[in-house]
Amino acid sequence: MSGTNERWASRIGLILAVAGNAVGLGNFLRFPAQAINNGGGAFIIPYLVSLVVMGIPLLWVEWAIGRHGGQYGHHSTPGMLDVLGKSRVLKYFGVFGIFTNLVVAAYYSYIESWTLAYTFFSLFDVFNGMNQQEVIQYFKSYLGTGDGFFNFSPVALFFFVVTLGLNLWILSRGISAGIEKASKILMPLLILFGIFLAIRALTLEAGESGAVEDAIAGLNFLWTPQFDSLANPKVWLAAAGQVFFTLSVGMGSIHCYAAYLRKNDDVALNAASAGFMNEFVEVVLGGSIVIPIAVAYLGLASLSAFSGFGMSFMTLPMLFENWGPFLSALGGLAWFGLLFFAGITSSIAMGQPVMAFLQDSFKFTRQKSTVLFGFAVFLLALPTILLYDHGAFDEYD
Ligand code: TRP
Repeated sequence: MSGTNERWASRIGLILAVAGNAVGLGNFLRFPAQAINNGGGAFIIPYLVSLVVMGIPLLWVEWAIGRHGGQYGHHSTPGMLDVLGKSRVLKYFGVFGIFTNLVVAAYYSYIESWTLAYTFFSLFDVFNGMNQQEVIQYFKSYLGTGDGFFNFSPVALFFFVVTLGLNLWILSRGISAGIEKASKILMPLLILFGIFLAIRALTLEAGESGAVEDAIAGLNFLWTPQFDSLANPKVWLAAAGQVFFTLSVGMGSIHCYAAYLRKNDDVALNAASAGFMNEFVEVVLGGSIVIPIAVAYLGLASLSAFSGFGMSFMTLPMLFENWGPFLSALGGLAWFGLLFFAGITSSIAMGQPVMAFLQDSFKFTRQKSTVLFGFAVFLLALPTILLYDHGAFDEYD
């Protein structure tokens, strides 16, 4: 038996924590971008098929392996895989379940820190009256892009340190008092903000406050099935990739959360509940905000320009401005706040496997593990911050 015998305190807390693990920046930023790049309605069928035949079954597998490992005191993949079979190599294979989380945590928490910064910028209404070019310029100067070799802005570094600090604070409090409690507060807020934005987005009509098209046109783009795309392997690959990313499977993170179950805790229903909550947030909420708002204000033809993370920082603040001073600040607050909540409940899920490994294998205390993890993330994140101009960030991604 190893150092920790922590457990989830309640079933609802467990489901919200695992949903928080899965619901992340991927649901609101990556999903719409993937759908757009793969033809909207062409993407949805392969996506749903991948979800049912691969995503949900993989969730069950990871929950089951995690719960099993947890009974032997293993909360990260090397130990879990070791008790699973006789083979010695399995254990080393499990190292991926730690290393991948650490590397993803580094660049993921950097984007997360932008969302925290932009929540404050929206609160103080800094985008008021800016045009598209000015909003883009603002983003660039926030990141500190420039002509030198190392370019960074002290503001971006400040928000990154604050974000990392918040992550470490939650992790240092442990499973039930840290991760579970944070998820119980942040996940309902996230869903509330998401519903507000989706309703506001879908009720935008052509002619109203600068809209050139009905927002519903954006939904039609996403939801009109195109059966001929089913023969395109590229779309299938993108859809399967998104299912992996959004459910956080294949990374050792779901394993880790499931390791804090009790022996007789249910796996099948809990895994499915958390998985379906993620899908509601991704397909229903994630699909009803960015695309409809962009279509309403910029037209269907503009969609192809929307890829990656930039759009929500460089375009949405300006589109929100059409809603008048009060609603635009509220819109920005809801959008970036939602992204921050989605981000932080995922980045702690990348941190916990690393924490668990240090606690189980080296018998480090939670405090010591927290400090080590924080140090490692900070060092790994520095290249993405300082060398952003040189493509370090994209390299990580
Ligand atoms: N599912 C997260 C999202 O949609 C991202 C993610 C991928 C993740 N792998 C993970 C989160 C591992 C936590 C742990 O944004």
